Amino acid sequence: MDNFKAFRIHNENDTVAGRIVDMTIDELSPGEVVFKTAYSSVNYKDALAATGTGGKIIRNYPLTGGIDAAGTVVTSSDPRFKPGDEVICTSYDMGVAHDGGYGEYCRVRADWVVPLPAGLTLYEAMALGTAGYTAGLAVELLELNGLAPANGKVLVNGATGGVATLAIDMLAARGFEITAITGKDAEHAFLEEIGASVVLSRLSIAMGTRPLEKPLWAAAFDSVGGEQLGWLTRTMNTHGLIASFGNAGGIELVTTVLPFILRGVRLIGVDSATTPMPLRSRVWQRLATDLKPKHLDRIAYTIPLEDLTAQFDKTVKGQVRGRAVVALQ
Ligand SMILES: NC(=O)c1ccc[n+]([C@@H]2O[C@H](COP(=O)([O-])OP(=O)(O)OC[C@H]3O[C@@H](n4cnc5c(N)ncnc54)[C@H](OP(=O)(O)O)[C@@H]3O)[C@@H](O)[C@H]2O)c1
Repeated sequence: MDNFKAFRIHNENDTVAGRIVDMTIDELSPGEVVFKTAYSSVNYKDALAATGTGGKIIRNYPLTGGIDAAGTVVTSSDPRFKPGDEVICTSYDMGVAHDGGYGEYCRVRADWVVPLPAGLTLYEAMALGTAGYTAGLAVELLELNGLAPANGKVLVNGATGGVATLAIDMLAARGFEITAITGKDAEHAFLEEIGASVVLSRLSIAMGTRPLEKPLWAAAFDSVGGEQLGWLTRTMNTHGLIASFGNAGGIELVTTVLPFILRGVRLIGVDSATTPMPLRSRVWQRLATDLKPKHLDRIAYTIPLEDLTAQFDKTVKGQVRGRAVVALQ
């Protein structure tokens, strides 16, 4: 097979940076399934990995970045897949310890591959990507714990981010009343358009300091962590549910046990990378059906491989909105 283009991330003299190179299938990390990549996407983790921001994410260099990929199978030594199958491969070691989605071909472990569910195109699968999968997984886990519109208001923070915009869209379609918190004053109308009832500016939030503040939220989807997650624990209703999946604002969590023992608040961890395949398949099925966002065309946009470096820079600075889909063909 001919050479193909890939965005490879190098660590040279402790400086992490990526560039587009020519490479061959034989140079890719090993795996049973080779597919021609149609699309990848840009997640917060991709930006941290490619810029070396916030600690060591990539475990071996050089590596093709991209924790997400979707494409069409070219060869498979595993009988579960055959040439022509449309597939999704997200997380596991992709773009971290195994060559990821920012190449025109991917070679991956068959155990990581999800057949594209009916109801999604390859483009839509990557408009969702790990962000949409994480939003869907959070909805699924909170529903298992009793999440329902009648419980009360739902808070979504880091609201213009990938996971958050998709969560707002999914939750609004299910009838939830959503309050969104954003640092971007110019995006309030956009957040209302995709389903938020109320939009608050990040800097306007008075967080208080008491271990228990006035209860406000039946559920929360937390992209931010840090001070905002601490405040959320203190402002949940009785039996409130918090999905903790993000750290865009910090990794620390300062709170007390009082929300948990006096209000029965449940803090539910959401990790997209370690989900077992049966749950992963179920969430992708839901993303193609009852959880399929209605505003993907407003939330997602396409960029070429050549624009990745600029996109990472904006992502690390918290300046992007929604989801960047990377077109490989
Ligand atoms: N657990 C998992 O499996 C998993 C999976 C996917 C993502 N994540 C994590 O979830 C978070 C969101 O991911 P994403 O891909 O949606 O990222 P993203 O698209 O880059 O969005 C992050 C958003 O967070 C807000 N933000 C940025 N810096 C902030 C700060 N200092 N303080 C408060 N808010 C800030 C911004 O929204 P506003 O300007 O609107 O406030 C930004 O758009 C990240 O921490 C990511 O690592 C975890």
